[in-house]
Amino acid sequence: AATVTYDFDIGWVYSNPDGQANRPTIGINGQWPIPPITATKGDRLIVNVKNSLGNESTSLHFHGLYQNGTTHMDGSASATQCDIPPGSSFTYNISVDQPGTYWYHSHTRGQYPDGLRGPLIIHDPDDPHKDLYDEEIVLTFSDWYHDLMHGLIASFISISNPSGAEPVPNAALVNDTQNLTISITPGKTYLFRMVNMGAFAAQYVWFEDHTMQVVEVDGIYTEPADAEMLYITAAQRYSVLVTAKNSTDANFAFVGSMDQDLFDVVPEGLNPNVTGWLVYDDKKENPAPKDVDAFEPFDDFALVPTDKEGLYDHVDHSVQLDLKMDNLNDGANYAFFNDITYVPPKVPTLYSVLSTGSNATDPLIYGSNTNAFVLKENEVVEIVLNNNDPGKHPFHLHGHAFQVVSRSDEEAGNYDASTAPAMPSIPMRRDTILVRPDGNIVLRFKADNPGVWLFHCHIEWHVLSGLIATFVEDPLGLQTQLSGKIPTDHLDVCKAGNVPTAGNAAG
Ligand code: C2O
Repeated sequence: AATVTYDFDIGWVYSNPDGQANRPTIGINGQWPIPPITATKGDRLIVNVKNSLGNESTSLHFHGLYQNGTTHMDGSASATQCDIPPGSSFTYNISVDQPGTYWYHSHTRGQYPDGLRGPLIIHDPDDPHKDLYDEEIVLTFSDWYHDLMHGLIASFISISNPSGAEPVPNAALVNDTQNLTISITPGKTYLFRMVNMGAFAAQYVWFEDHTMQVVEVDGIYTEPADAEMLYITAAQRYSVLVTAKNSTDANFAFVGSMDQDLFDVVPEGLNPNVTGWLVYDDKKENPAPKDVDAFEPFDDFALVPTDKEGLYDHVDHSVQLDLKMDNLNDGANYAFFNDITYVPPKVPTLYSVLSTGSNATDPLIYGSNTNAFVLKENEVVEIVLNNNDPGKHPFHLHGHAFQVVSRSDEEAGNYDASTAPAMPSIPMRRDTILVRPDGNIVLRFKADNPGVWLFHCHIEWHVLSGLIATFVEDPLGLQTQLSGKIPTDHLDVCKAGNVPTAGNAAG
């Protein structure tokens, strides 16, 4: 195992990835796109962050890493650390024991769509699929705004937007461009590691005249499963095998297409698609993609993890979360779990755990606006999420991959165990899952990872409007585990007089 170190100086640069608007963008070491983080299972990953933004605080979250023993390195600003103010530095030090396709992004509210998001790949010497491919290629999909988040947020959470209509992206990108060509060797098999780093839009993804074989989702290896089209929500990842044709007769398009059902109004002239090309022969033309008649994506619920982990069939602790969107007295639209819209606490929840002794098991000490649930060591936890909203929401849990034990069709209403289909004996696992409009999902995991873990919709607009719950997992165990272990640079950023970050003013 090696120690892999990244020195990241985070600051503003200019970028124009779709050729339509040159805009300030958050880069690293003077560059955007920002670099991928890569390491190998078993490595120690050290990321030294310096905040040179000047006008905004920041943080980095390593999406999908379990952070076993290091919840304080999770980067969830206001849950596990203070925001890093301009001029300050902060070191993340993580032992990476899990292979797979992940990503990293700012977890300071509303910030990553301004550019601070990139892939995070953990290679695996023991990859069960390694004999099945010749080469790997990372493909990031994202949506892109021409305006800075600061202004978009002000008009989003506002009395003049009482319906909560989310700003619609201006463009879709693949690998932060709209001109991606991939040079293909006939007959080779490629592993495409696909990440949706978008703020809002899920994307349908397909390769013309090539079948994909899914072998990993969100860091979980799966039995190979054929797919013609995937639906990748914000924050989800899929690794797929694609075998190249044996001839160089033609080049082929692949497409990412933003799901326009998410948009309240589709602006005139919006191109929801981004196209890239598998180039077998660079003297031949790159064809325009054909129209598709219907979006019929692969159903991720059918995936089977290669480790065959069985269903947790006994639940110790059930948490019901009823989701709705509604207005508060200020006239703006917010999102709620069980009638509470999340408001970030002044003291990070983790530091409240560490300073309250035996009271840390009482959820009330975490404030009435954090949707805090205290979990006991090693209990099996079930989340029943009822989506009482006509929108689609991709939910993400920090610190765990969860078993997806039930997912309804749209408009099924609240979960009802007596009428729901039987649970799969080997459920698929992942860390980000779509709940359908007015539908429900049921997730299970074992509370074997002491920490403070957020559970939230990964549409950044809904983070801003408060669609977050906090799991405080084994707080007394956490006190023992982290006693004296919070590094001084972590504590120093709390003192440095934080610039308040954009976000939820409710409560
Ligand atoms: Cu991509 Cu709270 O995470």
